[in-house]
Amino acid sequence: MSGGQDDLLVSVEGVYKHFPIRQGIVFKREIARVHAVDGVDLQVRRGETLGIVGESGCGKSTLARCITGLHPVTRGRILFEGADITGLSKAGLKAFRRDVQMIFQDPYGSLNPRRRVGSIIGDPFAIHGLADGADRKRRVQELMELVGLNPEHYNRFPAEFSGGQRQRIGVARALALRPKLIVCDEPVSALDVSIQAQVINLLNDLQGELGLTYVFIAHDLSVVRHVSDRVAVMYLGRVVESADGEDLYRAPRHPYAAALLSAASVADPDEAERAERIVLIGDVPSPVDPRRAAASTPAARRRASAASARTPSSSPARATRRPTPPPATSRWSRASASPAGRP
Ligand SMILES: Nc1ncnc2c1ncn2[C@@H]1O[C@H](COP(=O)(O)OP(=O)(O)OP(=O)(O)O)[C@@H](O)[C@H]1O
Ligand SMILES: [Mg+2]
Repeated sequence: MSGGQDDLLVSVEGVYKHFPIRQGIVFKREIARVHAVDGVDLQVRRGETLGIVGESGCGKSTLARCITGLHPVTRGRILFEGADITGLSKAGLKAFRRDVQMIFQDPYGSLNPRRRVGSIIGDPFAIHGLADGADRKRRVQELMELVGLNPEHYNRFPAEFSGGQRQRIGVARALALRPKLIVCDEPVSALDVSIQAQVINLLNDLQGELGLTYVFIAHDLSVVRHVSDRVAVMYLGRVVESADGEDLYRAPRHPYAAALLSAASVADPDEAERAERIVLIGDVPSPVDPRRAAASTPAARRRASAASARTPSSSPARATRRPTPPPATSRWSRASASPAGRP
């Protein structure tokens, strides 16, 4: 990959997404804000897979929805092929969605159970007025074949498919308009391990075949390692580290990234025995008006570990009462991996 400006497909620049919390029966006034995405800068290059990992609630899905234009951003810019998509009109968004599609986590909830699979996969053709009648059916059946579904099952309902097959339906629907970017929001989390591998291999093959670019969100760090060229680690609405996949796994620079990676399961039992497990104690601070301490720099980390050696770690309850809890530094401790020490 050359890394030039032409390679850049998406550029997320200083993006914030806050959700207001309102109170009141008649006059609803804003009493606080959830800082779901809190100043993210991110770049996605053509043809690559950018993995996004992070704790539950750190803003991965919200960021994904901002990138696909499903959420308007509170502040910042998102450039797709150099054009800002944050202020697009309805018509502009419709055109943009031909290029950017999303695959959702829940293969059960994301498909309408009352509609036949052929009609679900054919939706993008109908919405964009691209094909109808026999032409649409032919194109849908081609897509079904491409993702490994039997085209003869065109008239079946989602309930007649297994979880993995349903996710293939979601993939086929996302591919219908031949998008340039697919944002996969935990596409395999709801699936059985053996089926996960099938869907991941399918996504990999399609990337090679169709030249797709992926943003791949997952909880499972081994999955992210397997699929991603680069990985961004999110914490409390921010990207705290972004690096080439293997570099990140070899030498994470941010303490939260190190803790997250140390929790990944290792297939080799000898390596697992040697691995150092960093145990997080307490909860992540609330994203509602978080008054964060300075980002966890290595210096802050050293200061914090010196402090935690002097004082016992705070309990989650105490941590939530503290007005400015330093994010994931002072409440961390290291423990060598042992079966008993594992969660
Ligand atoms: N529509 C919404 N209205 C208000 N708050 C929201 C909304 N969507 C998300 N949030 C809040 O924003 C924060 C980030 O949520 P998000 O779904 O992006 O997290 P996530 O990283 O995808 O988590 P998970 O890994 O569990 O899917 C959470 O605190 C969540 O409660
Ligand atoms: Mg999510």
